[in-house]
Amino acid sequence: MWGGRFAGGPSAIMREINASIPFDKALWRQDILASQAHVAMLAAQKIVSAEDAETISIGLDRIASEYEADGVPEDWDLEDIHMTTESRLTELVGPAAGRLHTARSRNDQVATDFKMWVRDAMDAADAALERLQRALVTRAGEHADSVMPGFTHLQTAQPVTLGHHLMAYYEMTRRDRSRFADARARLNQSPLGSAALAGTGFPIDRDMTAEALGFDGPTQNSLDAVSDRDFAMDYLMAAAQCSLHLSRLAEEMVTWASQLFGFIRLPDALSTGSSIMPQKKNPDAAELVRGHAGRIVGATTALMVTMKGLPLAYSKDMQDDKPPVFEAAGLLDLSLAAMASMVEDTAFNTDRMRAAAERGYATATDLADWLVTEADIPFREAHHITGEAVRLAETQGKALDALELADLKAIDERIDERVYSALSVDASVAARASYGGTAPEQVRQRVAEARQSLGMEN
Ligand code: ARG
Repeated sequence: MWGGRFAGGPSAIMREINASIPFDKALWRQDILASQAHVAMLAAQKIVSAEDAETISIGLDRIASEYEADGVPEDWDLEDIHMTTESRLTELVGPAAGRLHTARSRNDQVATDFKMWVRDAMDAADAALERLQRALVTRAGEHADSVMPGFTHLQTAQPVTLGHHLMAYYEMTRRDRSRFADARARLNQSPLGSAALAGTGFPIDRDMTAEALGFDGPTQNSLDAVSDRDFAMDYLMAAAQCSLHLSRLAEEMVTWASQLFGFIRLPDALSTGSSIMPQKKNPDAAELVRGHAGRIVGATTALMVTMKGLPLAYSKDMQDDKPPVFEAAGLLDLSLAAMASMVEDTAFNTDRMRAAAERGYATATDLADWLVTEADIPFREAHHITGEAVRLAETQGKALDALELADLKAIDERIDERVYSALSVDASVAARASYGGTAPEQVRQRVAEARQSLGMEN
């Protein structure tokens, strides 16, 4: 394709280090679409004849069906997807093929193809996130009243509802979707027609190709357009943050599935056994989601480091932009699908959760609050009195609401029998009815709002 200037061909090592076809063949659909839009524009602008454009367009369709049926051939001599397609086009339609590359360069071509690929990846992430959200709000609605321990420092802190806990992840996924949406809106300008770096002298119509390819309009600076990979980093950063959320949920699944917690039974379909210990059921899918987050963060770092310090405009380093994005997108897709299935099909052991909340003195704050409200004791003093009650309960091996009134009165005589109504875990969660709090009534409201915004029935 560029042999004219050269006396000798590239060495074997040059061919190998230069070849991106092993991975950029993933761009073939976008590459064909962009070429179709480009040639239609060239014809409309009378830069190529209608007959040549027709010949090229039919040839491109034929190549698309070949790729679809047999895959994209990998010939390192042809470097990348752009040259692979053009070379096949030349075989199919002869010299007319040579007119396709008028007023274009592989630099604007690859930027356009890659943007379109990343745009699809953003749409796929959004759809997968929506599925996860539906699962979260469905399970949260089922468990608006199920009491479990809420933790800080992974120590039992206060009782919460399982629905509230699941809806915390719904909030994270809402931010994830909004990050992908922001990134998509920012991405959506077409680089095509920026040519190598400076634009072109041919009378092209950039609005026409932008519109044909689903962009909002053309990019405004050709140097920026061929050297911008912000869209790929925006995608990766949104993907990385999303993967962190998935990893935290996965971590909770791993913990909750352990025998020591026993809060959940993971679906068999997302677990594996051990080859040596017959009793084991391992949460491998959750662990891999946790692991994949590390690789997605790594991919993000990789591209940022590749881009750092590159002068304008295109440099070949930028060919390395694709593997991290492709890898991260594959891992994110899998992670989202795995977590959606896990949330959909996990069995929650609500008896164990409630028992754990009752066991962990989770209502100690409620006792302190009761002393403040009902006995008019300053909170700091109430905190101290409650601490003594917890110590006594620990010594007697009892829950707080199983302590004798006489024993409580011995700690502070202002305590009376009404205190027991505050010490149950149900009373505790019901009391936390501040906006966004864990009370079942609050959780039901948030679930209803979420269902409405997801277009689910209420
Ligand atoms: N395969 C190249 C890439 O992915 C296409 C652009 C090549 N441009 C060039 N000037 N050599 O970046």
